[in-house]
Amino acid sequence: MTSSLEQALQYAHDNQSLFLDQLKDFLRIPSVSTDPAHHPDMEKAARYLVSRLEGLAFTHIQIFPTAGHPVVYGERLAAGSAPTLLVYGHYDVQPAEPLELWQTPAFDPQVRDGLLYARGASDMKGQVMAVLSALETLIHLDQLKVNIKVLFEGEEEIGSPNLDAFMREHKALLACDNALNPDAGMVYPDRPVIVYALRGLAYFELRLHGPSHDLHSGLFGGLVHNPAQVLCELIAGMHDAQGRITLPGFYDRVRPLPAEERAQLARDAMGEAFHLKQAGVSQLWGEQGYSPEERLGARPTLEVNGLLSGFTGHGSKTVLPAEAMAKISMRLVPDQDPAEVEQQLRRYLESHAPASVRWELEEMSSGPASITDLNLPATRALAAALETVWGKAPQLKREGGSIPVVASMQTILGVESVITGFGLSDDNIHAPNEHLNLANWSRGIDALVLFFTALGK
Ligand code: BES
Ligand code: MN
Repeated sequence: MTSSLEQALQYAHDNQSLFLDQLKDFLRIPSVSTDPAHHPDMEKAARYLVSRLEGLAFTHIQIFPTAGHPVVYGERLAAGSAPTLLVYGHYDVQPAEPLELWQTPAFDPQVRDGLLYARGASDMKGQVMAVLSALETLIHLDQLKVNIKVLFEGEEEIGSPNLDAFMREHKALLACDNALNPDAGMVYPDRPVIVYALRGLAYFELRLHGPSHDLHSGLFGGLVHNPAQVLCELIAGMHDAQGRITLPGFYDRVRPLPAEERAQLARDAMGEAFHLKQAGVSQLWGEQGYSPEERLGARPTLEVNGLLSGFTGHGSKTVLPAEAMAKISMRLVPDQDPAEVEQQLRRYLESHAPASVRWELEEMSSGPASITDLNLPATRALAAALETVWGKAPQLKREGGSIPVVASMQTILGVESVITGFGLSDDNIHAPNEHLNLANWSRGIDALVLFFTALGK
């Protein structure tokens, strides 16, 4: 390692508590994108990022309004022919509810046993601040030789509904060689990760309307089809006994998994016990004929995310409900088209929903899957940087979660993303007591220092 790199890592370590304070400031802003009550906090979070970029002497810093929450942009272009890296991040977070399950308040960041607890600590304000901390290190020492552009959105956790339009409008501004997307995460603390495939998402609300008003279940039960029952029957029919999804044509475009990739996934398999423990279940479930890793990363799924109908209060009420609602989403794999999947769901409902109810289907958010070429110079540079810091080559992972911008950058900008992250799979993201392992975070900052340096060579 060169002495200037050693100096940079030393600077990053010496400033760890400053970087942590900055992250805590960011985490105190409750930027919950889905909740209109938090709209002012979205502006606040965007302005916080602007002030950090100003501190790093970025140029062309702008808050771009969108039809939803604003996009923050800035750049720091080194002279010469160095490559340009577009760093993606999101400043929005998931709602903190149920609040009573948090040991300390979600937006009052606190460190316990080396873990920083707060909504967004892992997903993904910690990742955004790891990037800014690494940049601060190199900028302070005048060692940043790669061109950096940053794009921070405020709507990832609601499916990035306005980001495609923004990118289409600002293609020239966003021109770059590669993107860095640190919105993924690791499985084990001692093994870094590079993600090369993400699942897409198609999310729907299905509403069934039965009788014109709630009915007495004694006076009408046996006469009127209960929409709650119909909803359950429809949902039950969406999987067969082998755990396969029954929507017509659902698997038509799903790519078969090549044998070499199956072997690779098997080599990195976490093992059944790992999944049982993480999920807190005594038995796994899923599509027959595929391993847990294949089912998570390379096979599409359909989940019921929520159900609502009838009486759910204390005690009992004999009612035959007028309506029933379900939130249903599919995780998609490469080549599945969210618009086609909507048609498949509609065809399923057309052929299976009885005439006794009226149904409505509303699309909530959608985005296709993505798969990334691992042979990019930027990917190799990141792999080398991660290996230097962790002493282990990164696990190459197919991710079950979704980051819609990755596919959008491919199709709109023609840009491939290098995807990583320094959170862990038990960080409780989207759940109470979300936290970030600070030792791991600090290793992530080191790796980013090495990565940015290598790209500037
Ligand atoms: N950062 C996550 C996705 C993620 C988590 C990737 C862990 C890899 C490892 C992201 O913020 C997220 O939760 N995305 C949503 C997207 C949806 C709302 C379109 C998801 O996957 O549910
Ligand atoms: Mn995220």
